[in-house]
Formats: sequence, structure tokens, C-alpha cells
Amino acid sequence: MDVVIRYERTVLQPETWRKIPPDWGSVFGRRAPLGVEVGFGNGEFLARVAAERPDWNFVGFDVTLTCVENATRRMERAGVENVRLAMLDGRFGLRELFAEDSVGVAFVNFPCPWPKARHTKRRLFQPEFVCTLAAVLVPDGEVRLLTDVQWYAQEAREALESDGLFTVAGPRPVGDGVPATRYERKWRLEGRDIWELIAWRKARAAVWRIAEGGMPHATVNRDISWSEVEQLTGWKERWPGGAFVIREVFRGGDGQSALLRVFSTDAEFQQQYFLLLARTHYGMLVKLDGATLPFRTPAVRRSVAQVATLLYKGGS
Ligand SMILES: C[S@@+](CC[C@H](N)C(=O)[O-])C[C@H]1O[C@@H](n2cnc3c(N)ncnc32)[C@H](O)[C@@H]1O
Repeated sequence: MDVVIRYERTVLQPETWRKIPPDWGSVFGRRAPLGVEVGFGNGEFLARVAAERPDWNFVGFDVTLTCVENATRRMERAGVENVRLAMLDGRFGLRELFAEDSVGVAFVNFPCPWPKARHTKRRLFQPEFVCTLAAVLVPDGEVRLLTDVQWYAQEAREALESDGLFTVAGPRPVGDGVPATRYERKWRLEGRDIWELIAWRKARAAVWRIAEGGMPHATVNRDISWSEVEQLTGWKERWPGGAFVIREVFRGGDGQSALLRVFSTDAEFQQQYFLLLARTHYGMLVKLDGATLPFRTPAVRRSVAQVATLLYKGGS
């Protein structure tokens, strides 16, 4: 029998949620302890752990569409009902989508080690991520890391232990039972040792969340010409902690609207989206276009306000 892939059930679109963090009981249709995996790859591990713990709800984050598609198929074929997936940076997802003291376990399996010194900031176990873990995990909640890179596990240990937020065991080499993930299988075939680190939350950290509900919009009460809109192409702004750039401007076929393609960053978190400019009887409305809804972060809100300000000033 063909398997019907029900993306709408398994794949989450938290950008569209009005309330974040959400009520996870409503998202899953039942209340249960929560587990999270950051970087689920092909979803093999998540499918297995979800089957082993049917009384838990699991949320997985990965940043590539291929991973989301492959993992979704795997969950649907296996009939796994207690997993939801999101194509989202797990650092952002964990911080923005989970309340304090709400996650029982966070799994990280074979994260990219980013060995070059100039890429240190890309490694997952940075102070900000450790703070997020210490905020959202329940007391004694676990972080479980598997890696083939011993120094990486040691560095993660130091990050988790600093500030006294976690008690840590390991890294210790783990024997070769059934490989937990695709990468575990790959590295074992190459004869590499696999290292495990387990940390338990000792103290809660505070985090600053930046995504908000609501839809930023602004109106400009004057008649604006198409050439003024075109001049927005390439406009950039940078401030401590964020930036945005207007990459392209597209004119609507009706002559009454335009779309601006915008890239924004809030610290390390990048988004791409469209701003819609629509002519109205009182001038121009500037708002987010619903086709590519981003999280409403400070950089996104600022881009809306700033485009309106630029268009307004264009008349003075
Ligand atoms: C080396 S692969 C490991 C995949 C899987 N865990 C395994 O063991 O087979 C690392 C995975 O992490 C994902 N990834 C990298 N940075 C991420 C982030 N910030 N948030 C979520 N996923 C991330 C990558 O897309 C990739 O799928």
C-alpha cells in the first residue's frame, strides 16, 4: 500500500504561529514529556527514539530541506506519530519555541565540528546555546551528545560546565552496539571511536527571546512614484546585533504593488522574506508578504519600519 506523506502533520511552520512558545500539548494533540533533537539528518535516530519512548513527544530541527523531506518520509512510513520536524536553526528553535523548564532531553548527534579556528563561532556548543539549554531543560533534564571528534566533546564539556549550569559525565568512548545514526555508521566503518557526553541541568539560565507574534506594518501618507520604490534596491543597515539588506525590488503587474526581497540577521540567525508595498487611497501600505512569512524578530520589524521611513522621507 502506498504511504501517504502527510507533511502538514509532521512538518511544523512555527513562523506562522501567533503564539510562541506554543502550547506543545495542542501541537501534538496530547500532553507528554518533550524531547528535542538538533540536526536530525535523515531522521533515523529520531524515529527510533520516538518508537522506544511512545509516551514522549519529540521535536526535531534541521536546516536543510532534503533532511526535512527524508525524515518526514521516514516518520510517515514507520507510522511514527509522536515526532514533529521543523526546518529551522536548532539554536533559534530551542530558544524561541520552548518555555523555561519544559524539555526533558536534548539530543545532538554528530554535529559538524567546524575544526578551523576561524569557524569556532559556528560550533553548536557556544555560551549562548548552553544558556538556551539551561533555560529550556527541566531540572536534571539531559543533554546527550554523540560525536566522533574527541576534542569537540571535550570542548562541549567545558562549555556546559562553565557558569555551573550543568553536571557533566564524559566524554567516554561508546561501544559499537547498533549504530544510532547514519553518521555513526559512517564513522565506525572508518574505524573511528565514538564519544558520548551526557550533561544534566543543575541551574536555570535566563535567555532573551526575540521573536514576537503580531504583524509589523506601517503606512506612508503620500503619493510614491515607482522610481522611488526602485531606489530602495541595495539599501543596507547594520547595527549591533543585526542587519538587513534589500536585495531586489519587483514591480507588481497591477502597477499598484511591489515586493522587496529582504535578507535579515539577528545575531547569527538569518532570514529571507518579502515586504509588500501596496498602494491604497491614502498612500502606501508596507507589510510582510504572507508567502514567505519570517519570524517577527527585531531585524524584521526594523526593516518594515525603515522602508516606511525611507519612503516617507523621499517626499521631503
Ligand atoms: C553531520 S550531520 C549529522 C546528521 C545526523 N544527526 C546523523 O548523525 O546522521 C549534521 C546535521 O546537522 C544539521 N545542522 C547543522 N547546523 C544546524 C543547526 N544550527 N540547527 C539544526 N540543524 C543543524 C545539518 O544540516 C546536518 O543534517
